[in-house]
Amino acid sequence: MRPPRLTRRGLLAGSAATAAGALAAYASPRPSYASVPARAPGGSAVEPFHGVHQAGIATPPQAHAVFVGLDLRPGTRREAIVRMMRLLTDDVRRLTEGRPALADTEPELAVLAARLTVTFGFGPGLFTAAGVEDLRPESIAPLPGFVVDKLEKRWTGADLLLQICADDPVTLAHALRMTVKDARSFARVRWTQRGFRRSPQTQAPGTTQRNLMGQLDGTVNPVPGTPDFDRAVWVGDGPQWLRGGSTLVLRRIRLQLETWDAADRVAKEFTVGRRLDTGAPLTGQKEHDEPDFDRLNANGFPVISEYAHIRRAHVADPGMRILRRVYNYDEGLTPEGHADSGLLFASYQADIDRQFVPVQKRLAEADLLNEWTTPVGSAVFAVPPGCSPEGWIGETLLG
Ligand code: HEM
Repeated sequence: MRPPRLTRRGLLAGSAATAAGALAAYASPRPSYASVPARAPGGSAVEPFHGVHQAGIATPPQAHAVFVGLDLRPGTRREAIVRMMRLLTDDVRRLTEGRPALADTEPELAVLAARLTVTFGFGPGLFTAAGVEDLRPESIAPLPGFVVDKLEKRWTGADLLLQICADDPVTLAHALRMTVKDARSFARVRWTQRGFRRSPQTQAPGTTQRNLMGQLDGTVNPVPGTPDFDRAVWVGDGPQWLRGGSTLVLRRIRLQLETWDAADRVAKEFTVGRRLDTGAPLTGQKEHDEPDFDRLNANGFPVISEYAHIRRAHVADPGMRILRRVYNYDEGLTPEGHADSGLLFASYQADIDRQFVPVQKRLAEADLLNEWTTPVGSAVFAVPPGCSPEGWIGETLLG
């Protein structure tokens, strides 16, 4: 990567901005984008595509995401699926490196990869279509129904998933267009779900993000590069073809933000068991303090309620936790001004039945947060391992 160039204009604009702060914009006779202080642009940052695991899982979450669920066209069998996956792997290999896809209609848009990753997942229907039903892990199937579910068909299920993430929405739009164009003769788009998080330009990478309820979301999560992460996220003992891969549960969870807004701060913090400002557990001071689930208040009741979200969701063994790589969504307003917003709850784990389902079951049975959250979509995917520069995603299953 080239170091940022020091220019007279950048220096002047930079020093003006630091010296005079916001006043600089007013003092300038011609306020323009040039008065923004120069900083190293992150557009050329690249996330490696090749490797044992697919990118986009352990990768620090990018600011923008689009999840695309596709259904294979009738009659699309193994040989065609292999062709499609070879084609898509080639597109993604190029695009994530900042190179145009083959026959890219807008090659200039490919240049800034902005940490683009594209992660592929195989839904239950792909195994049937490819004639490899015997290699489908049992948990790659629709989840058992939960009492809180109000699932809508338009957000549920799919044969193939593309999880496309980047720090730049233009890069994202281009990657979406290029990949879906090449998938089109094999599959139809079933749903598209767009999400966002605070960008690395806004907040230092590694900072826990806030969801639209205002909570710090992601505090207790496996940490990439640790043995607990490896055990929690990567398949180590399942079918041979999925070793080094993972599984994904994507839940679309709508938020009732207007009634949430009507709750006071004490109620909001009681619901989760953590403070809104620092994210600290109600029994602690700092975000990463261990919650003390046994502590009682003066009246003899648990400080962290029996029905608080973090108590119900807690898993003691760090190697059995789920990786929550969630994105906010906000689909605009109804004519009355009501928001359609929520969470694209992407949960990665080695084993859905052992890790995700027990937590979701406990939450569905009793979780104060349920008052304001409704799962409206659900899809489950096997996430194949990564590939080498000569390989393609899915080769361990279909090659
Ligand atoms: C819109 C729905 C949801 C919201 C707003 C939400 C929000 C939160 C918040 C604020 C925390 C505390 C901070 C943290 O550790 O990240 C948390 C923790 C957690 N949530 Fe959720 N969550 C939602 C749905 C779910 C679902 C569906 C699951 C799993 C099925 C889940 C599993 C967890 C787990 C495992 C933790 C960590 C618990 C621990 O402290 O050990 N959450 N969530």
